[in-house]
Amino acid sequence: MKVFHTVDDARGFSLSERKAGRSVVFVPTMGALHEGHLSLMRRGKELGDTLVVSIFLNPTQFAPNEDLDKYPKTFEADLDACRGEGVAAVFAPSPSEMYPRGKDEQLSWVSVEKLSGGLCGASRPGHFKGVATVVAKLFNIVLPDVAVFGEKDFQQAVIIKRMVEDLNFPVRIETAPIVREPDGLAMSSRNALLTPKNRKAATAIFRSLREAARRVADGERDAAKLTMMVEEAIGASGGTVDYVRVVDTGTLSPLDVVEGEALLAVAAKYGDVRLIDNILLGAAG
Ligand code: PAJ
Repeated sequence: MKVFHTVDDARGFSLSERKAGRSVVFVPTMGALHEGHLSLMRRGKELGDTLVVSIFLNPTQFAPNEDLDKYPKTFEADLDACRGEGVAAVFAPSPSEMYPRGKDEQLSWVSVEKLSGGLCGASRPGHFKGVATVVAKLFNIVLPDVAVFGEKDFQQAVIIKRMVEDLNFPVRIETAPIVREPDGLAMSSRNALLTPKNRKAATAIFRSLREAARRVADGERDAAKLTMMVEEAIGASGGTVDYVRVVDTGTLSPLDVVEGEALLAVAAKYGDVRLIDNILLGAAG
């Protein structure tokens, strides 16, 4: 497995793979890899020839008050995990390789309007501008034919798909389902930051999402009743709700009534660890 730290080396590798007639599949990550990330790599291997993974803790998608400094870093273990999945190359640039002038002198940004303002975008202003910009940069470096994103970050996947469409990136975006711990908690690099007590309490998130999906299957259509039930369950477990919303899966606009396909999306804090999760309701659930 090759490990590249510079833009030139990573792009040179992709160019030579493509010249040799091999398609490039890309899985962008921020490291602290877990089974959720590995599932994207496995999906990626089915979608093309040469699998490239990036490991870059992108500073521009974290606000100054957020957990950039606390974010888990497990680089050597991450490389081992990538080797185990048959990854051809890892691109692991430094912040100065990605933002040579410093992030305050990055003058060009990708902003995916409307889709970036709600849900996580409301409580993390600027977050998706950082995400879309770094993903655009990574696409221009790794030159993938296909890129794989997880449905755990549903809003992110919708935003990236729209960016690719609006800006004519020659990349196909694929998504893969949420991978969960045996007790249902969605896998996240941030789970490692939970205290044992909060780790247990956080199982209330998926339990209540599943209960909401069950109620919809039983005929419930009132979004407010569903979100209230989830809010109460998370509150009772000791979590602090950031948002619980039923939204359209395409536009991410809030829905009052569950008709056909809808997404129930949640963000909540346990201690100072912010967790997100979601579940499809109705026809898709
Ligand atoms: P990160 O949080 O490391 O996630 C990388 C990819 O793994 C994302 O597509 C995310 O949706 C997916 N993923 C995370 N947990 C998952 C789970 N439990 N099941 C399935 N997929 C999961 O998302 C980012 O990094 C960054 O914003 C990035 C796109 C790399 C840009 O910096």
